[in-house]
Amino acid sequence: MTDNYHRVVKGDDIADRSLQAFVVDGWPVLIARDEGKLHALINRCTHQAAALAPDGRVRRGSIMCPLHGARFKLDNGECMGATGYKSLMRFDLRVDADGWIEVSVPDYAPGAEHLPVAPLV
Ligand code: FES
Repeated sequence: MTDNYHRVVKGDDIADRSLQAFVVDGWPVLIARDEGKLHALINRCTHQAAALAPDGRVRRGSIMCPLHGARFKLDNGECMGATGYKSLMRFDLRVDADGWIEVSVPDYAPGAEHLPVAPLV
């Protein structure tokens, strides 16, 4: 396993049941906290590529896409319910001694298939 951690945000800045969007070494990453536990996932829905943060909802171990409402498990990225969309990519995270959240993203640059798109209006 490569050690490719990047300092992103202070842990105290992610309130419980909330999520925030970041770009980490070019990757769109959301960091969410649910019942005290932190999670880092790709900030792109596997349905139609909408950004999940900052407008998605964190609730009972899942994140809900703000565009069409698909729900994904925070602990493994799996899509919940009958829609069966692909799982969200997850990233390892850790909190350093000073309380900063560090996220590990791949060494390669994200491709177009990893980037969120703006919804059509
Ligand atoms: S883009 Fe997320 S549910 Fe459709």
